[in-house]
Amino acid sequence: MRPSGTRTVAVTGVAGFIGSNLADRLLAEGYRVVGIDDLSYGVLEQVPGDVDFHQIDIRAPQLSALLRGVDVVFHLAAKNCISDCQQDPLETSSINVLGSVNVFEASRQARVRKVVYAESSALYEGSAIVPTPETELAPESFYALSKMSERLFAEGYARHFGLNMTALRYFCVYGPRQDYRRTIPPVMSAFIIHLLRGARPTIYGSGAKKRDFVFVDDVNEFHLQCMHDGRTDGKAFNLASGSSYSVREVFDIIQRLLGTSVEPVYEADLPGEAVQTCGDVSLARSLGWEPRVGLDEGLLRSIAFIRENVVDRDAARAISA
Ligand SMILES: NC(=O)c1ccc[n+]([C@@H]2O[C@H](COP(=O)([O-])OP(=O)(O)OC[C@H]3O[C@@H](n4cnc5c(N)ncnc54)[C@H](O)[C@@H]3O)[C@@H](O)[C@H]2O)c1
Repeated sequence: MRPSGTRTVAVTGVAGFIGSNLADRLLAEGYRVVGIDDLSYGVLEQVPGDVDFHQIDIRAPQLSALLRGVDVVFHLAAKNCISDCQQDPLETSSINVLGSVNVFEASRQARVRKVVYAESSALYEGSAIVPTPETELAPESFYALSKMSERLFAEGYARHFGLNMTALRYFCVYGPRQDYRRTIPPVMSAFIIHLLRGARPTIYGSGAKKRDFVFVDDVNEFHLQCMHDGRTDGKAFNLASGSSYSVREVFDIIQRLLGTSVEPVYEADLPGEAVQTCGDVSLARSLGWEPRVGLDEGLLRSIAFIRENVVDRDAARAISA
């Protein structure tokens, strides 16, 4: 239920995967949504029609004017493809650190009540403890270092200016609109697209790497809780399912759901990827949050989205060409 007084929220990265799903949910709950995205990666067609959309870089000085009257800011915009970030540490820090500081500063100037921002399970890259609790900070890649720096500035804004912040550490979020445009898309999108097209998906490495997958609607449930639950103030939370599946297991589950029987192509492993991710979600659970969407259900919803929006659309384009 929408608490009285909380009417306008802003979402940076609103044209991206999590941001666009969050905007849908916020609009459905009756909030007014100011959406910010420079469309460097996200696409306009993913921005829900009722969003008050501004195509603008999060580093722009006009940001504080856009946040005037906003109660809560969800800051999700980032450069977030780990391999792209490794190639370009300068741009990574410019967007993820400087851009985030500009969002925090603009939020302070606009007297925003609360900022909920995206960190990442990448902060645990160097930790061998699984399931990983929030205390295990060990960033290694430039992407993770940028998220760690963002975190330090967030702590500074809380300490020096009293800005109310909550940090969310997503593990592998999946669901409709999960990025399928990258050269190497996240495993689920990649497998589903290939199998629906009758092609053989690629598994990098042996397929034994394990990942903790959490459905986007579950993540959004906690976003909404952060808006009005004071117990989230000033804290960081893992958002994960608490269990992990190997890449090969995910492949086999998707094949079962699609009724296909195809052997994947195995290629050399991608560098710098963790052997296993698994989040300890006891902190979020202690506030009543629960990852509710199981893997089968979440995958079926992802398959339906990709079938309709990617595969069928491409086929229709090919016929009309
Ligand atoms: N998806 C996941 O599994 C996952 C896991 C851990 C952390 N995260 C974090 O969650 C957040 C959202 O992730 P996502 O999967 O929705 O990513 P996404 O790439 O789909 O969306 C990010 C959006 O930010 C926008 N953006 C990038 N640079 C910008 C800039 N300078 N100014 C304005 N907009 C800019 C892009 O155009 C894009 O629409 C990110 O901060 C990401 O690091 C995501």
